[in-house]
Amino acid sequence: MKELVVATTNQGKLREIRGLLADLNVNVTSLADYPDAPEVIEDGDTFEANALKKAVTIAAYTQKLTMGEDSGLEVEALDNAPGIYSARYSGEGATDERNNEKLLSELEGVEPERRGARYRSCIALVKDGQTIAVVEGDCRGEIATEARGTNGFGYDPYFIIPEYGKTFGELDPSIKARISHRSKALAQVKQKLAEYYKD
Ligand code: IMP
Repeated sequence: MKELVVATTNQGKLREIRGLLADLNVNVTSLADYPDAPEVIEDGDTFEANALKKAVTIAAYTQKLTMGEDSGLEVEALDNAPGIYSARYSGEGATDERNNEKLLSELEGVEPERRGARYRSCIALVKDGQTIAVVEGDCRGEIATEARGTNGFGYDPYFIIPEYGKTFGELDPSIKARISHRSKALAQVKQKLAEYYKD
C-alpha cells in the first residue's frame, strides 16, 4: 500500500487528517512511526514557510511522500495573534488548556462583535526534494467567553461557528470535517494526490 507521512506529533491534527483521507487507499503514518526523525524547528514567519520546512525536512529523512501542515488561530482584536505561535502561545511547556487561558485573558472585556477570528491551515506535500503542492484553507468564527463542548482539540471549545451558534467543541466532528480550515486545505491536497498517483 502507498504511504503518506504526516510530519506531526499532534494527535488531534493527525486524527482529523486520517479521517479526511480515509477514502484514499493510502497508509497515513506520522512522526510516531519515525521516532528518530530530526526535530523540525518552526522558525518560519508564515504558515507556509513552516509547513514547507516540516515537509522538506521529514521527506529528506523518510524518503517518502510527506505532508507538512502548519495551522493556527488568528484573532482580529489581537492583531491576528496567536497566528503561527498558536501551539506555543502560553510559552514554555504550553498546553491547550494554558493557551486557552491566555486567549481568554487577552480578550477580557472585548465585546462580542470584536471577537472575530479565523483558523488557517497550510499544507505542503514534498517528495524527493520536490514540492508537489502548497495549499491553504481557512474557517471563520468568533471566540466564546467560556469553554463549550469537548470535541476537537486546541482552541475548539472557544471557537464558535456563527452559522451553527455552536463551538467546534460542541459540533459533531463530521461537521468540522466538512467546514474546517484543514478539510478545505485537504480537499485541494486530495486533487493533487490524485494527479500524483496517476503516473
Ligand atoms: P502547529 O502544530 O504548529 O501547526 O500548531 C497548530 C496549533 O494551532 C495547535 O496546537 C492549536 O493550538 C491550533 N490549531 C490549529 N488547528 C486547530 C483546530 O482545528 N482546532 C483547534 N486548534 C487548532
